[in-house]
Amino acid sequence: MLARWFSWALVAFAPSTLALTDPQTVYDALSAILLPSSELVLVSDNAYQRDFTPRYNLAEAPTYLVGVRPAVAEDVIKVVTYARGRNISLLTTGRGHGYTTSLGRVQGAINLDLGKFNSIQVDAEAKTMTIGGAVNGYQVVAALQEAGMEIPTPQCPCIGFAGASLGGGIGPYSGLYGPMSDSMLSVDMVTAGGRLLTVSETEFPDLFYGIKGSGFNFGVVVSLTFQVYPATNSGQAMNADITFLGSQNESVWKAVEELAASQPKELAFGLSVRYSPDPPSEGIMIAANFIYAGPQSEGEALMKPFLDLKPQNVNISTVAWKHIPLVANGGAIANYGCNPGVYYIPYSLNLYRVDVLNLVDVVNYMSQAIGADSALQGTSIVWQQYAQHGFQLRPDDSSAFPYRDAKAFVNPFTKNAFVKHPPYQKTDSTSITPSRRQIDSLASESSQAPALDNFGREIRDLLQGGSGKDQLDVYVHFAHGDEGPGSWYTKERLPKLLKLKEAYDPTGMFSWYNPIISAAP
Ligand SMILES: Cc1cc2nc3c(=O)[nH]c(=O)nc-3n(C[C@H](O)[C@H](O)[C@H](O)COP(=O)(O)OP(=O)(O)OC[C@H]3O[C@@H](n4cnc5c(N)ncnc54)[C@H](O)[C@@H]3O)c2cc1C
Ligand SMILES: *[C@@H]1O[C@H](CO)[C@@H](O)[C@H](O)[C@H]1NC(C)=O
Ligand SMILES: *[C@@H]1O[C@H](CO)[C@@H](O)[C@H](O)[C@H]1NC(C)=O
Ligand SMILES: *[C@@H]1O[C@H](CO)[C@@H](O)[C@H](O)[C@H]1NC(C)=O
Repeated sequence: MLARWFSWALVAFAPSTLALTDPQTVYDALSAILLPSSELVLVSDNAYQRDFTPRYNLAEAPTYLVGVRPAVAEDVIKVVTYARGRNISLLTTGRGHGYTTSLGRVQGAINLDLGKFNSIQVDAEAKTMTIGGAVNGYQVVAALQEAGMEIPTPQCPCIGFAGASLGGGIGPYSGLYGPMSDSMLSVDMVTAGGRLLTVSETEFPDLFYGIKGSGFNFGVVVSLTFQVYPATNSGQAMNADITFLGSQNESVWKAVEELAASQPKELAFGLSVRYSPDPPSEGIMIAANFIYAGPQSEGEALMKPFLDLKPQNVNISTVAWKHIPLVANGGAIANYGCNPGVYYIPYSLNLYRVDVLNLVDVVNYMSQAIGADSALQGTSIVWQQYAQHGFQLRPDDSSAFPYRDAKAFVNPFTKNAFVKHPPYQKTDSTSITPSRRQIDSLASESSQAPALDNFGREIRDLLQGGSGKDQLDVYVHFAHGDEGPGSWYTKERLPKLLKLKEAYDPTGMFSWYNPIISAAP
């Protein structure tokens, strides 16, 4: 077991902090203890815009005093210990794609950017992969393809592989292997108490349970080791993009229902229901995506119920596994997901059945609402549906990941309404709230926010009615932030997770991102 205790007594017992912490004070204190190889800058410094990972979503963005990019785990320990001793908020940044509004509570914090933890090692013989805490999805698929291996990865190539897996992590090959967290073998992490722990099935197994599905609640994960698998179909997969008119929605939903009942593990399915101003749709259109880990002929056969509906456009091809995130949905996910600095309002939920009548109602409501308010034209309902096989490989109580029986993970959001603006506006102010200023300067562009916000909530409520569960259940990474811990982690899991929180993060240092807290009675 690797467990070290570093005591930074001078820092921890320094006189208590001023009410409003001055960035320079924090900078000076950290600069005195960090290695020269670690980067430390004030957010007002140009180097901050240049070197630090941008936030994907600027709605409810955190604000920072200073940014730190530690070079080694020992410096992570120093930063955590300093922040705790001075009661200064701290947020870990992996690849910056977390979009929950709960992050808006982070104000005047230290940005602990793991950008220097970006190494990746694959051991094809041992079938393992070890990555740094800020490696992204594309780095993983590129390295694994090279080694003839694979693992489930998220749809968007730019999101943090660690960040995603700490909340479960779902993607095209989850039908084969389950959430990404099921493939986790161990992590090295710094706890709130400043200890560097190796956590696995045999070392701190209780904490390992929590890491797999609620991991951002317990510390800073600097390195992770995963099991990887020999490539299916020699590392080739079918990608199929087909589109339908809104008027075909009922037949499409019926085909989706049929598919959900018998989805083979090699097949991942996605939908995007959105508005198109162009003929022939001139209204609601439906884009479907199929990814099949096998020969194209087999994949096409499985698509027959959809192809029989005579889609508007059909594009079926075979691609290298690593290119799936770049080509699926005509490249839309990579295109939108890799351009940070958007104003993003997600309202998502899990569905436990495909309720055709309810879904027709949702499409009709969407069509009607968009007709009445053009500000809503950019909204879309994005649907991810994976085979149950992978999720059922492990028992429900094997980890904090709680949605093994979900049929679909659905994101109704303002995705295409992206109010695009530069994420990095230069500021020479030493104000502690530069990101706020950025958002203020966008006020005119984000004036649509209230309409989008209302609409998102309405669509979520409508979908919830046909979800197959009385309560709202939402995949923690797709959550808006208003749902509460019962929806993110389930009420059944909360007592156990609260105990873990008490043991490893009693002061709530890591309670920013959809945190484990007591549910309201
Ligand atoms: C366009 C888009 C597409 C997406 N598609 C998918 C998808 O297909 N499947 C899926 O599962 N998810 C998907 N997501 C959600 C994604 O899993 C989350 O946004 C996840 O938080 C991204 O991690 P990150 O490191 O990029 O984000 P960050 O914002 O850097 O981190 C998110 C949270 O995790 C914490 N964190 C990150 N890394 C670490 C670490 N190493 N140690 C401790 N804490 C850490 C951060 O402190 C923060 O609280 C998508 C998101 C976007 C924006
Ligand atoms: C730490 O700071 C928060 C506000 O940022 C405050 O609510 C809390 O009481 C402080 N805790 C201590 C121990 O000073
Ligand atoms: C959705 O399908 C229903 C049933 O076929 C149809 O009446 C409705 O017009 C369709 N909705 C849209 C927006 O085309
Ligand atoms: C069809 O899909 C492939 C990748 O799967 C892509 O390279 C090609 O550009 C697409 N063709 C059209 C016409 O969109």
